[in-house]
Amino acid sequence: MGDRLKGRNAVVTGAGRGIGRAVAVALAEEGANVVVCDLGVAVDGSGTDQSPADQTATECKKFGVKAIAQFGNVSSFSDAEAAVKACVDNFGRIDILCNIAGIDKPKMIWNMSEQEWDQVAAVHLKGTFNFMRHAAPLMREQRYGRIVNCTSEAWLGGVTHLNYGAAKGGIVTLTWGAAQELGPSGITVNAICPRAKTRMTDDPKVREMVVKRVEKGLMDASVLKRMDREMVDPSAFAKVVAFLASDDAALINGQVFLTTALTVARYSKPEAVAQVENPSEGPWTLEAVKSAFSADRLLKGYVNPAPPKPEEKK
Ligand SMILES: NC(=O)c1ccc[n+]([C@@H]2O[C@H](COP(=O)([O-])OP(=O)(O)OC[C@H]3O[C@@H](n4cnc5c(N)ncnc54)[C@H](O)[C@@H]3O)[C@@H](O)[C@H]2O)c1
Repeated sequence: MGDRLKGRNAVVTGAGRGIGRAVAVALAEEGANVVVCDLGVAVDGSGTDQSPADQTATECKKFGVKAIAQFGNVSSFSDAEAAVKACVDNFGRIDILCNIAGIDKPKMIWNMSEQEWDQVAAVHLKGTFNFMRHAAPLMREQRYGRIVNCTSEAWLGGVTHLNYGAAKGGIVTLTWGAAQELGPSGITVNAICPRAKTRMTDDPKVREMVVKRVEKGLMDASVLKRMDREMVDPSAFAKVVAFLASDDAALINGQVFLTTALTVARYSKPEAVAQVENPSEGPWTLEAVKSAFSADRLLKGYVNPAPPKPEEKK
């Protein structure tokens, strides 16, 4: 047990299970009081259960801190307000906010329903906004705050769950922008991009597929070894969040960190890699556009990530 966060008060969403739970416990272990927010839903967002939030709150209290379970839905603006208020009413103020709650409803884009899109965006992106919106005025007033959001490598555009990836991309943008808006008031806003074994990722089929590829010589055995060392309980890296929430991280702002049991990495912000100026003073002509898009100008070094394949026989 440490005391890096002694006297600090935190709200952690999605704290009933997985990464949120590990983060709540890591903050409590460093002396922070914690509001444990969790609706107790399944990975796809269905159902509700109060026991995960209760269990995490009990676990946090073992470190001698105060902890309360809060069963709101992060996608509800008023539930988020109630959770932030619970922190202020019970502990005096809110110093730390960790937005970790998440669900996944994977589908290819041509099969995704409007409801699947809306629900995932509402939990991840709107949920993160909701809590930041209610915490920010209080943090600005006290000129102190630590906000840690949760994105995913799906932010970079992986296939099969674009509702999830797009929402996670939105969280990165929210993090970058809020860091600029809130930084001058002594508030830091960063994001973690985790890799851990939780019920969301614990799919034996993925490991089986990697084993088969290694056996066939299509993949190096080190990939499997690394995967097994990385896909472990998120408590392995939860202290990264405790650090970002501490006074030691006062000047770390607007950053996205890959966090795994093996690695911490800092992402860059995308920047233009090729640039062509309009050769005329008027609007772009089609000829000028065509020339700009040539292989030695804008498209220098470009590779199509998914070129057309010959149509499969049905
Ligand atoms: N596990 C990974 O490797 C991984 C990788 C990248 C990103 N993430 C992100 O990490 C976060 C935590 O995921 P996890 O792997 O721990 O999953 P998890 O399913 O174990 O935990 C998610 C928690 O969020 C809660 N939750 C979901 N919707 C909620 C809502 N509307 N209101 C309140 N609580 C809600 C759930 O009840 C659950 O306790 C998510 O945002 C996820 O997208 C996880």
